[in-house]
Amino acid sequence: MNAPRHYLQFKDFSRAEYDYLFDRTHWIKDRFKRYEPHHPLFDRTLVMIFEKASTRTRLSFEAGMQQLGGSAIYLNTRDSQLGRGEPVEDAAQVISRMSDIVMIRTFEQTIIERFAEYSRVPVINGLTNEYHPCQILADIFTFIEHRGPIQGKTVAWVGDANNMCNTWLQAAELLDFKVHVSTPPGYEVEPEQAGCTRTDHFVRFDDPMEACRGADLVTTDVWTSMGFEAENEERMRDFADWQVDADMMQVANPGAVFMHCLPAHRGEEVSAEVIDGPQSVVWEEAENRLHVQKALMEFLLIGKVEGDCA
Ligand code: CP
Ligand code: NVA
Repeated sequence: MNAPRHYLQFKDFSRAEYDYLFDRTHWIKDRFKRYEPHHPLFDRTLVMIFEKASTRTRLSFEAGMQQLGGSAIYLNTRDSQLGRGEPVEDAAQVISRMSDIVMIRTFEQTIIERFAEYSRVPVINGLTNEYHPCQILADIFTFIEHRGPIQGKTVAWVGDANNMCNTWLQAAELLDFKVHVSTPPGYEVEPEQAGCTRTDHFVRFDDPMEACRGADLVTTDVWTSMGFEAENEERMRDFADWQVDADMMQVANPGAVFMHCLPAHRGEEVSAEVIDGPQSVVWEEAENRLHVQKALMEFLLIGKVEGDCA
């Protein structure tokens, strides 16, 4: 049995593979919009394991698998033996004998890595404390749809140096764009933590306004990620000046877009004026989770294809 290919971090794929995935996503999305069925994953089963809450990730993977002709099964920590201490390695061996592909949302990256090591089938990272590669896949696809290739462009990241920020840094290194990062003191981004090997693709800014100056895409995320709730009160104080507002969008490039992976908190990390304003593409960004992940599952299960491969 060949070792399966996994998608645990953004850097697990090459630039050429991303070029393919973005093209394929265009094809899959276009076909979906025309109500033309595409069932390359007929009879395949996706198992989705959630150790944290989700709306978009669950819905987009479950609907996506069904639209590709397969089915999806939802497991969570509360109702499965995972929450009662069954070793991840044992769960991986059992679950991957009964399914064709697995998506996991969990805490430490090491958990998904341990699962993948014992899995017979591809494993996809649906968010860990460290990374959120499926979201950045959707975000870059959304940027390409609105503004063309991301190569050479500048992304401004304002707020917490979290799983989204880390994944943006990995993507920038691989796909050749720049990230301007502005975080409050004490919450600085670390390239090694982001899994980067270089540092020339990002610049740190103390002032969030300066990070946004000249950016083609301005983006942020919650101040308190899942799993860090105990720090919420302190974070509300520390991040107060890191809200993306109309003044920040004003100094970005004309035509800059605003993105947020959602769920959002208006009046905290972003003003209502920005997220509900004309530069915001957050709804298209959310929808694109569906389309990119269909291309991703098809790629992991049957490789590169052209047209209708069913
Ligand atoms: N953006 C995102 O992953 O959303 P959910 O937490 O709702 O899945
Ligand atoms: N950084 C956030 C993203 C939620 C989709 C979290 O990890 O909670």
